[in-house]
Amino acid sequence: MEHSTNTAGILEIGGVDVSTLKKEYGTPLYVYDVGRIRQNARAFVETFEQEGIPAQVAYASKAFSSVAMIQVADEEKLSLDVVSEGELYTALEAGFPVKKIHMHGNNKSRAELKMAVDAKIGCIVVDNFYEIALLEEILEEENTTMDVLLRVTPGIEAHTHDYILTGQEDSKFGFDLTSGQADRAFASLLESPGMNVIGLHCHIGSQIFETSGFLMATRKLFDIMKKWKEEYSFEAKVLNLGGGFGIRYTEEDDPLSLNEYARALMSEVKFQSEKQNYPMPEIWIEPGRAIVGDAGLTLYEAGSVKEIEGVRTYLSVDGGMTDNIRPALYDARYDIKAAERMNEEERRTYAIAGKCCESGDMLIWDATLPDITPGDTLAVFSTGAYGYSMSNNYNRFPKAAVVFVENGSHQLVIRRESFDEVTRFDLNFKTGGDTDE
Ligand code: LLP
Repeated sequence: MEHSTNTAGILEIGGVDVSTLKKEYGTPLYVYDVGRIRQNARAFVETFEQEGIPAQVAYASKAFSSVAMIQVADEEKLSLDVVSEGELYTALEAGFPVKKIHMHGNNKSRAELKMAVDAKIGCIVVDNFYEIALLEEILEEENTTMDVLLRVTPGIEAHTHDYILTGQEDSKFGFDLTSGQADRAFASLLESPGMNVIGLHCHIGSQIFETSGFLMATRKLFDIMKKWKEEYSFEAKVLNLGGGFGIRYTEEDDPLSLNEYARALMSEVKFQSEKQNYPMPEIWIEPGRAIVGDAGLTLYEAGSVKEIEGVRTYLSVDGGMTDNIRPALYDARYDIKAAERMNEEERRTYAIAGKCCESGDMLIWDATLPDITPGDTLAVFSTGAYGYSMSNNYNRFPKAAVVFVENGSHQLVIRRESFDEVTRFDLNFKTGGDTDE
């Protein structure tokens, strides 16, 4: 993540120094540089505009869903991808234009589908036969229609962590292309009076650096669109190629720029459209991580230091797997800095530990930092995606606050949880039960 340091050696984000943020809001604290979010969004939007291809960039709100974030997405003219009632509710609370909302999910409930239909969102991405039947029923009951995309699994194994890989045949998501499952689903959608199929969707995985997987998926989708054009005279208005664009977490990562990802996709789409003589559909993508990942960092306060002579020095911080579960879950790597001692020589190696009662609660195994004393401020970079959104209350830690900074000003956009809120659903136990006779 790009960052600047002021003359006192203090890290600044969005024109605000981290000491001010720590003093005002405490730690652990998620801080987002709104300017960077806008820059990321524009990199996609402007590349599509330059290529002259009608496109929609839908922010995958699972990466970080909050009212303020969704309002920024709206300001940047993004569309929105939601995967649950909760994410849809947040989008509606944020006043996001409903027609630009798309809903995903491999097990959408009747309530979720009904909420989407009632809210008159732009489109539902249909994932399985159970959902087709449910949605058909709801549309019939409500005597209305819905635009849908058919989600297919193109049989592509992208190089990423197994848990965030989704485009291979053996996946819980979407209809398989090779077994004829997708053909059957498509035929049944065409027969449904309530469902208006506008195109196809695929998502091959997350944190992907190479374009080859995206290009292969594009080819496979054009092949099937061509086949369905011949068989059913169906022309897709929309081709949604999902998200998954990889970002830099540490020096070891070498992603393309967002413009490069977008350009690579566009040139393959143009090539396929010409080669297959298929009218150019509108291209939709759904980046989550690439919009918010490198725009966020987490501030912690350093606490205990435990040195095991000749083995390792553990430096514990006041957060951990409750605010960032990615290292424990995916072996994810991050960079860290002593945020108020940026000009000091980094000469000590620390293992950065969280404070949960679990040995696996480690944020970084080998961080190089100046000598740290308790009370120092530490910044872990690129925590903007899947940090807050996967945060939890393990050990009954309250969830951390989120602050947005832009042009030298800062504002709280999610409050820190209080202990009252941590216990808000707890009820007293009454021996013998509380049923009134
Ligand atoms: N579209 C669909 C259908 C998806 O399933 C996903 C992510 C995205 C878009 C956005 O992908 P992105 O551009 O953010 O890579 N919790 C994991 C990531 C899970 C991603 C799930 N689906 C992590 O922390 O890495």
